[in-house]
Amino acid sequence: MDFASDTTAPAHPSVIDAIAGVNTGSASSYGADDVAARVRGLLAETFETNDFDFWICASGTASNALALSVVCSSIGAIACHEEAHIERDERGAPEFFSGGAKLRLLPGHGAQIDENALRDALAMNDPSFVHETPLETLSLTNLTECGTAYSVETIKHYAALAKAEGLNTHLDGARLANALAHTGAHPADMSWKAGIDVLTLGLTKTGAIGCEIILLFGQMRAKFEALKARAKRSGHMPPKMRFLAAQAEAMLTDGLWRNLAADANRAAKSLANIVCAQPGVSLAYPTDGNEVFAILTPDLEAKIKQAGVRCYPWPGGSYRFVCSWATPQSDLEALRDLLAEA
Ligand SMILES: Cc1ncc(COP(=O)(O)O)c(C=O)c1O
Repeated sequence: MDFASDTTAPAHPSVIDAIAGVNTGSASSYGADDVAARVRGLLAETFETNDFDFWICASGTASNALALSVVCSSIGAIACHEEAHIERDERGAPEFFSGGAKLRLLPGHGAQIDENALRDALAMNDPSFVHETPLETLSLTNLTECGTAYSVETIKHYAALAKAEGLNTHLDGARLANALAHTGAHPADMSWKAGIDVLTLGLTKTGAIGCEIILLFGQMRAKFEALKARAKRSGHMPPKMRFLAAQAEAMLTDGLWRNLAADANRAAKSLANIVCAQPGVSLAYPTDGNEVFAILTPDLEAKIKQAGVRCYPWPGGSYRFVCSWATPQSDLEALRDLLAEA
């Protein structure tokens, strides 16, 4: 029973087929290939706009750090949740790639920034006060690190507050598909139409091998050359880009990415019901997407450890169980039986 992460899942067969499918003949390198051109078309369709540029990376950390390095200068600050992946899990990559930008950490339940904390931080922002690093960017994450989904309305509202103070906006969408599946929102409504300037769209957790797309919308396109230069300098310009693009093509075709995320979310809902059926078990956060944060009894904790169930103890005392497109029904049943024994 492996509920450690959606990154322990295999890649979807369509992704593997797509890679094999482009493995013939020669193709222009560094993103100038036909597959990348087709991905542009799919992204335009998906996001209902042609007013964007994009770059594909193999990891979420690289795409977040590169994206943030073009929306925040080396002497600026990025407001984000105190549990954000860019703060907790990227080993200082945003600070490193931006050449010194600072992260300003804001509180809020379920890894969603509290509105008053955001308002206070924005109200205090004074770029003319030389001693403090001024906010230049607001970074949100959807799904959040606690598996909750921001609504389109909240993203729109927070982006408007940030923009009123002259900030840029970034959305870490490592699990955007899961947030979309939960809210039923359209990708355009949850990104540029909500005021997001730069999106890092994750497809790896959803079913690709390693494929995370940075999208620069509207006026942010002016930064595209800088983004490419930074990608090259940091070693995120692989020559045979067609194989990354093929993953994106497979995932975006016929909405596969959204369907797979919906499957993962359904599996997580079943898992949440299974754990909550046990007396004394509760959820630390609502299961909006494909992650379940369960507060277990000591007996159940011992039982899952003894059985070698793979899941993560989470700060705050819960255990994180993650489902993916490939979570087998038999794993869910095995977990149910195990807990019932306890
Ligand atoms: C919210 C969030 N952003 C980004 C990432 C991507 O990180 P990685 O560099 O592991 O692909 C993750 C992975 O866990 C994540 O949960």
